[in-house]
Amino acid sequence: MSKLFEAHAFGDQTFKNRMVLPPMTRCRTDQPGNVPNDMMADFYAQRASAGLLIAEATQVSEDAQGYSWAPGIHSSEQIQGWQKVTRKVQEAGGRIFLQVWHTGRISHAVFQNGQAPMAPSAMDTDENLSVWVAHNELDGDRSGGGGIQACTPPRAMTLDDIKRTQDAFVQSAVNAREAGFDGIELHGANGYLIDQFLRKSSNKRDDQYGGSPENRIRFLTEILERMAGVFPPERICVRFAPHNMARGMDDPDTPETVLLALKRMADLNIGYVHFAEADWDAEPNVPEEFRALARAIFPNQIIVAGNYTPERAEQVLDQGYADLVAFGRPFIANPDLPYRLQHQLPLAPIRDAFLFGGSEEGYTDYSVAE
Ligand SMILES: Cc1cc2nc3c(=O)[nH]c(=O)nc-3n(C[C@H](O)[C@H](O)[C@H](O)COP(=O)(O)O)c2cc1C
Repeated sequence: MSKLFEAHAFGDQTFKNRMVLPPMTRCRTDQPGNVPNDMMADFYAQRASAGLLIAEATQVSEDAQGYSWAPGIHSSEQIQGWQKVTRKVQEAGGRIFLQVWHTGRISHAVFQNGQAPMAPSAMDTDENLSVWVAHNELDGDRSGGGGIQACTPPRAMTLDDIKRTQDAFVQSAVNAREAGFDGIELHGANGYLIDQFLRKSSNKRDDQYGGSPENRIRFLTEILERMAGVFPPERICVRFAPHNMARGMDDPDTPETVLLALKRMADLNIGYVHFAEADWDAEPNVPEEFRALARAIFPNQIIVAGNYTPERAEQVLDQGYADLVAFGRPFIANPDLPYRLQHQLPLAPIRDAFLFGGSEEGYTDYSVAE
């Protein structure tokens, strides 16, 4: 039998198979307050046959927001909302982690009480950064429409801002535990705040959080050291996208910086690293040498994501470069994806128009195979 569908144990957890639902922002919380709801509980519970689910990127604090209707985990209403999700997933036999993020400079003044968002450094990028802002954020229209807005140029974080933001990440783990999550994933990929600290292209600081690679990984590793007192370290994951240079993140040394962070994660016995590889429809671009180095440095679980087919998944598992493989868009359109792949049934196509914002349509109305 193919490895993908075999049960797999790590630490004190056993997974039904090696398939992961990766975090996917869908902008469907209740308003006001970015509160997870029953519709979201249904979406995740429908996909509980994945070995591991990782819930969508979730704000650690109010100022962590960059997209309308993305969920938070900093208010008691949000914690209660997430409890609905974890309960329903666990009743369906699933395991679920929460991805937590701060979007840093990928934000807009409407989410920041009219102020500039925070980032490691106040700087322009060569690329125009943008975020999805709902009409109701701008003019009180509750009809649900929205549009892409240019990001508001950021201000540089003070040492107090850094400490306060790290505190918010640690508190998000306390809240995620209270909400019933089995583990937590830090969003260190795709150009958001942790990634902004990692890279020379977005981090021009001259204090202990900028300059050398050791300094640029410090924002992350200090959070991990403290988070490991909340969740056992083997239930903590960090997501990186070392080969993704979009969003003004073009620092060719990023893979090396990420490998340094991996060494520190191994020392802390962090359970998982999750690599976001090809973004959208980009060609897979991870050199074999990087995979081999990551495997040699990191003794725990490696998750990979990015345009994986069952064949590519099997190959990366056989090579020993990954322990778990995530399937994103196929899982949106096929809630019973493990069953369909295992029985070689046809896959339903995704309806792209419903990815961000809206109702049950294009969210919880995908059917399972007969
Ligand atoms: C609608 C959508 C939302 C996404 N949101 C997130 C997110 O919140 N956090 C994250 O790390 N990646 C996010 N991603 C990236 C996915 O986790 C995944 O890496 C990507 O879709 C590639 O996998 P696939 O080719 O199997 O879809 C998102 C992708 C999609 C399609």
